[in-house]
Amino acid sequence: MATGQQAATDSSVKRDAMLAAWVRDARQRTLEVVADLTDEQLMGPQLRIVNPLLWEIGHVTWFQEKWALRHAGGQAPVRAEGDSLYDSAAIAHDSRWSLPLPSRADTFAYMTTVRDRVLERIEQGNLTEQERYFITLGVFHEDMHTEAFTYTRQTHGWSAPVFSAVQVANSGETGPLYGDAEIPGGRFLLGALPEEPFVFDIPCTGSPKLGDAGCGAILIIGCRSSRIAPCCTSTGGKRKLTATGWDADCRRSSNGKWRRRPNRRISAKNLRT
Ligand SMILES: [Fe+2]
Repeated sequence: MATGQQAATDSSVKRDAMLAAWVRDARQRTLEVVADLTDEQLMGPQLRIVNPLLWEIGHVTWFQEKWALRHAGGQAPVRAEGDSLYDSAAIAHDSRWSLPLPSRADTFAYMTTVRDRVLERIEQGNLTEQERYFITLGVFHEDMHTEAFTYTRQTHGWSAPVFSAVQVANSGETGPLYGDAEIPGGRFLLGALPEEPFVFDIPCTGSPKLGDAGCGAILIIGCRSSRIAPCCTSTGGKRKLTATGWDADCRRSSNGKWRRRPNRRISAKNLRT
């Protein structure tokens, strides 16, 4: 019979094996989402709502390296110039197209090197909880950026990426969605409980509060702006996809009427992660 300590060890081994699988999966997705793009497409035209993909795939790698390897693991930087190239908090969006970015091959090598170092650290065992947290943070951050990589391709009018591990649905239910997504009202926990396995912001734990939210509905956004405009126009609002984001925001309140909030833009800052 396994002792309590043995059971805890087995549980940690399973957790870390899953974490390693997540690390591999996230990097594979990132590599695959850009694999078929040309060097020119990896930079792409400069728009406020997207990033140059060559920069962005380096950024997710740098984020993983900075927090999982350097901050939590105490390792030395993989690339000496990493902070000056990929720190999204320090590098203005518009300047990301003119940075002295490494080549495609060098960027891919950076991506695999950092991933492999994280995997090596996991395989060594005895991860601290801080290391687990920051490795997980890097995975979730990369997964969020995978969405950004995908909408960047869509924004530029390029084909959808092909992922090796994704089964294409053939249920006849694919395609743009229409109508409203009903949001029930109720009481919601704001913040997180200490026993939560992961939260994005550690300060959010410890003192969660209950908050009330009214019910309502949100317009389901289709994939093409041409299908959105008529819907909003019929409510007296107006919505148009521009290079700087949506030019108006239409939401329906609990009384069933669409409410237009003019002059509210979904800023480039909000669109980027
Ligand atoms: Fe990011």
